[in-house]
Amino acid sequence: MEFQGTTLATKEACVHALRQPELSSNPGGAMAGSANLLFMDNESHIRLRAVVRDVIGQLEPLPHQVTTDIRAIVQKLHGRNDIDLVADFGRPVAAIVAAAVLAVEQELTAELLDQISGTAANLGVWIGDSAPAGSAMHKVVRFFLKATAIHDGGLDRLRRARKAGEITEDELLVTPVMLVHAAYENSTNFLAAAALQLSQSPSLAEQFVSGSRQAGAVREMVNQICPTRHVMRRATKPLDVAGTHIQEGECVAISIGPPNALAFGTGSHSCPGIKVALTEAEFALREIAPLLAASWRTVSVEEKNHFVFHGLSHALIRRDSSSGD
Ligand code: HEM
Repeated sequence: MEFQGTTLATKEACVHALRQPELSSNPGGAMAGSANLLFMDNESHIRLRAVVRDVIGQLEPLPHQVTTDIRAIVQKLHGRNDIDLVADFGRPVAAIVAAAVLAVEQELTAELLDQISGTAANLGVWIGDSAPAGSAMHKVVRFFLKATAIHDGGLDRLRRARKAGEITEDELLVTPVMLVHAAYENSTNFLAAAALQLSQSPSLAEQFVSGSRQAGAVREMVNQICPTRHVMRRATKPLDVAGTHIQEGECVAISIGPPNALAFGTGSHSCPGIKVALTEAEFALREIAPLLAASWRTVSVEEKNHFVFHGLSHALIRRDSSSGD
């Protein structure tokens, strides 16, 4: 299905739109009153976001176990001649961080991770798909409903917030899914694409190895790769945004990709996981850089096809036979 509304492209219009209270994050219709943080506005958004921020804050700085697990993933790649930077690097690294955010005893299996990715279809509501993520959503909701929460971890904090009356029953059901998806999908997409760039540019990989990058270099890479290309809003009244007229009820796609350098958004919904995402990327790319600084050939790369998310479904690289590890 095609997007029917207005697309804002200039940086001025996009920044303005993201800070405009008349542009709601709620798609309306069946989603009015949604318990998903991404689709909420005003006081209820501020209330739930404070609880989510508390959950994410546990990973600032990244716990030792997370960095140990990321290092182990990269270690397994040494000696390999073929690497799929999505399946072997982006996904498992992002899965470790996503699992650490919720902190449950049960493993996030490959099947569950696919379901978590599948919940992205929820955003289809913006382009008129009705209840698109139904079965994936139910499976992930059920997983966290039954999961054993590790003491004082993310899910435990959400359950305690429910007991204290800080969040509703519906918010307790939906928030783990929204949060695990937010942590997993964007980071998978960014890490795989960034590692591909390192494999194609030994001098870039070398900068990670030697630590000679400029401050803010990883953030610049995120802005350039930009795993979320658009964020969506709906006008609650007629308004003008940097010269573009938007009618009441109209949906707006805000382009945060290059050259706008808004990969983490701005305004009230801007990414609350930015510190975690940047620390995770900095650490994981520095770990894999010595391996990618060797000579690699890109064998095949395939892009995912989603109107909001921008990522790769695989990125296969092969070691040049003339080089060693
Ligand atoms: C490279 C990685 C990441 C990128 C590029 C990214 C980007 C974004 C963007 C653009 C939004 C704003 C959506 C909007 O305005 O509608 C967002 C929201 C969000 N992100 Fe991230 N994100 C990343 C990683 C993470 C991580 C690791 C976490 C959790 C630890 C996280 C948690 C969230 C949450 C909870 C929201 C919803 C905020 C709200 O609606 O108030 N993100 N992210």
